[in-house]
Amino acid sequence: MRPVVIAANWKMNTTPADAGDLARTMAGRIREPGVERVICPPFVCLAAVRDALSGEDVAVGAQDVHHEAAGAYTGDTSAAMLAGLATWVIIGHSERRRDHAETDERISGKLRRALENGLRPILCVGEQLDDREGGRAEAVVDGQLRGALSGHEPVALANAGLVVAYEPVWAIGTGRNAAGADASAMAEAIRTTADGLGWPDAAETLPVLYGGSVTAANVAEFLTEPAIDGALVGGASLKPDEMAGIVARAGLTANARRQTAAS
Ligand code: 13P
Repeated sequence: MRPVVIAANWKMNTTPADAGDLARTMAGRIREPGVERVICPPFVCLAAVRDALSGEDVAVGAQDVHHEAAGAYTGDTSAAMLAGLATWVIIGHSERRRDHAETDERISGKLRRALENGLRPILCVGEQLDDREGGRAEAVVDGQLRGALSGHEPVALANAGLVVAYEPVWAIGTGRNAAGADASAMAEAIRTTADGLGWPDAAETLPVLYGGSVTAANVAEFLTEPAIDGALVGGASLKPDEMAGIVARAGLTANARRQTAAS
């Protein structure tokens, strides 16, 4: 049975002075044990959020990691530096592909560093609007997955608990979310690609999240799709009321899956 995961990507918001309070408030509103919950604050807020979440069953994730283990990379953060601060890491977010020219090759390197250091990756993929309108969305995402996973043993990625987040670029921060059925079709396509690459039992073991303008009001559209295992939330993840609603809805999905598995 695939896990249900709700991950909060705080992006470049909060400071070390206020992130702990927000994380503590959030944790108190998202106590839903059947759902894996992750908060990904900026690097400089990781320690504050880790401390605020002590005693809570909410994981901490970083928003990026460098593709090299160490060296002359001013301003960057290696996977080893995240030890004790984060257990998850977002890799290949479209904002980093866009603003930091991250290539599939670099993203593959980042996955390697995450695995070497025991970090659980959330690998982001997603097409641009013209790709979707031109009927190329699945081909683009297939290419991103092949690029990111190349050079990796799928079984090692599966054992590391890799999660894919399908985030259509045109849906991020725009208030224009994908249709649940389209996101579901993409989740199936992602598993088909993974399966072709040798992923062990992708249908059962590869979690796929949806991201892009997810809110408490629209999350059900995605969580009622059996192919979708949760959400990677941006703007709404800074609002405790929104996260409370999103995680509560995810709890319903998790319970329904447990009941189906038990029957
Ligand atoms: P929004 O939820 O703000 O659209 O952001 C989605 C996202 O990029 C999460 O990684």
